[in-house]
Amino acid sequence: MNELKSIESQALQALESVTSIPELDQWKSTHLGKKSSLMGVLKGMKDATPEMRKEMGAEANRIKKGLGASWEKRRQEISEAEVNARLEKEWLDITLPLSHDEQGHLHPITRYSRKIEDIFTKMGFKVLEGPLVEDDWHNFEALNIPPEHPARDMQDTFFMTNGSLLRTHTSSVQIRTMEKIQPPFRGIAPGRVFRNEEVDACHDNTFYQVEGILIDKDISVANMKYFLRTMLREIFEKDVEVRLRHGYFPFVEPGFELDLRCLLCEGKGCPACKHVGWSELMGCGMVHPKVLEACNIDPEVWGGFAFGMGLNRLVMNHYDIDNIRHFVSGDLRFVQQLN
Ligand code: PHE
Repeated sequence: MNELKSIESQALQALESVTSIPELDQWKSTHLGKKSSLMGVLKGMKDATPEMRKEMGAEANRIKKGLGASWEKRRQEISEAEVNARLEKEWLDITLPLSHDEQGHLHPITRYSRKIEDIFTKMGFKVLEGPLVEDDWHNFEALNIPPEHPARDMQDTFFMTNGSLLRTHTSSVQIRTMEKIQPPFRGIAPGRVFRNEEVDACHDNTFYQVEGILIDKDISVANMKYFLRTMLREIFEKDVEVRLRHGYFPFVEPGFELDLRCLLCEGKGCPACKHVGWSELMGCGMVHPKVLEACNIDPEVWGGFAFGMGLNRLVMNHYDIDNIRHFVSGDLRFVQQLN
């Protein structure tokens, strides 16, 4: 009986210094396992008298149960302590304001793009989308640019080995829209385009455009001018001076180039406008009947205008940025100063 008492007190003492689950498992096998001293005593009882066996058996069982309960209690204490320690380590105050240095912001191209989307959605235009990897039909053929047409050289193209290509302009979205939606409709499609060009300060092999298209009955060049001036006035938040020059694009007739009186020098002539006082902003014109026909729209009934505007040039003009390649350089110093 004395031995049993000392086994119990030793086990309880050892349990005090156990602080982790693996140690606890170890403790259990040492003090309650098959090879434990307690089990040894129980096994040795076969030689004892029946009365002794009864008394010792009851005591040993009490100890076994008691140690089991102490083990369970310790296990709970340890798990709880482990959870608390983890919570303490991982605690963070999600209500703290971010430090200003780490705040992100929109890229200037995205900001302009959203601004233009807002202006046009207020005038009833829908925002349209198309894929960057296009096929010949949507980028050229349906836009009245058949194979071998010299206009294909106006936009040097990146071709994929499977015959697909990277869209050279957002005009491909005009076709995708007209194929899907019956007129009347109006929409704009901002997005990235690609050209296999020599790069320099004014040309990059990727840039951003916004395409616009409106198809309805009785639409004239005057309507087109109205929408374009309204947009430019809202973008620059002042009255801007524009002029239309004849311009050739196979998918519009008549076609125009729209120039903006240079915002930096107000027409006096500066490096940004190449000293002419005007900067080319977009191509536009009345949608060619052949384009409507390619999309199964009857040109006798429906007509409208389309325009395609380079976004990079616009932002460059606004902020006096001297090199188009900054936009996709990934240099944060560039975007951060235009926040
Ligand atoms: N797609 C032409 C370009 O990228 C621009 C354009 C669009 C011209 C729509 C006329 C009408 O240069």
